[in-house]
Amino acid sequence: MKATALAHPNIALVKYWGKRDEALILPHQSSLSLTLAPMSVTTTVEFGATSSDHVEINGHTAKGSERERVLRVLEVVRAEKGGALGPARMVSRGDFPAAAGLASSAAGFAALAVAARAAAGLPEDAKAASMLARLGSGSACRSVQGGFCEWRRGEREDGTDSYAVQRFDAGHWPELRMVVAILNRDEKEVKSRDGMRHTVETSPYYPAWVKDAEAEVPRAVEVIQRKDLQALGDLSERNAWRMHATSLAAEPPLCYLHANTLGLIEHLREQRKKGMPVWFTLDAGPNPVLLTDAAHEVAAEALARACGAVDVVRCVPGGDAVLKSEHLF
Ligand code: PMV
Repeated sequence: MKATALAHPNIALVKYWGKRDEALILPHQSSLSLTLAPMSVTTTVEFGATSSDHVEINGHTAKGSERERVLRVLEVVRAEKGGALGPARMVSRGDFPAAAGLASSAAGFAALAVAARAAAGLPEDAKAASMLARLGSGSACRSVQGGFCEWRRGEREDGTDSYAVQRFDAGHWPELRMVVAILNRDEKEVKSRDGMRHTVETSPYYPAWVKDAEAEVPRAVEVIQRKDLQALGDLSERNAWRMHATSLAAEPPLCYLHANTLGLIEHLREQRKKGMPVWFTLDAGPNPVLLTDAAHEVAAEALARACGAVDVVRCVPGGDAVLKSEHLF
């Protein structure tokens, strides 16, 4: 009744921004991401060995909403086994550089879902694990598998058709690189969860975002299929701008961009005009992620550092979440 799994984070190229169901974490639109190596989170889950639930993340006992989200995922697994598993002990550790500016929650909940199912004796099942991970954090449903994953929004009210499917594995486009430029290490001012709710509730542009993003997913699949870096770069940038535009139009406005975010974007455009194949995407925070190829990853890192990046993480396409034989406890 003990299992350990390792999962990677992912970066969305077509973003998820806004829930139609807050409790089940069901999105208004589909999204598409690339799983990123080498960063990972490893999680061990054991049922029935303690007298009460214990959740430890990166050496600290989890409290508040962090603990509740983990327990929610464990509860679903217990219910699936008829409630006979008993209390759980969960220990999770990430190897992300300190405050990398990259959310570890996607990798964390994907590793938790895979480990918890295995610890409960449930069969390996990417679809079931994706739906389970989604209950912890929406974007986590895209980290159960490697390569390019599409989270299909689904139509059903119970969420049973809202999960991620792998469109291309990590080996499809090995030369692709994502370079995370950490301009600012502070905790984000408004968490994604709150930012997207505020945007759904108050932005007059929100319906346009939903329609546009849904239509971008098949286009993204098509350009990834033919490994067209320029087309994917253009698509990623416009999708990031549109996500931020819908948030900027909220009341009061929600601005995740910092002055140095815009400085980097401007410099990136100049370099592109000079022939460098580099584009960006931007989640709900100030740190851009640069999209380029293997031949230009060193130049992309230099570009980020020249624009004030305090840290840079160079990533390659990552693989599936996997079970490990070595446990954390
Ligand atoms: O899964 P959450 O609640 O961390 O939200 C993720 C939202 C974005 O990172 C901005 C976009 C995405 O699709 O990952």
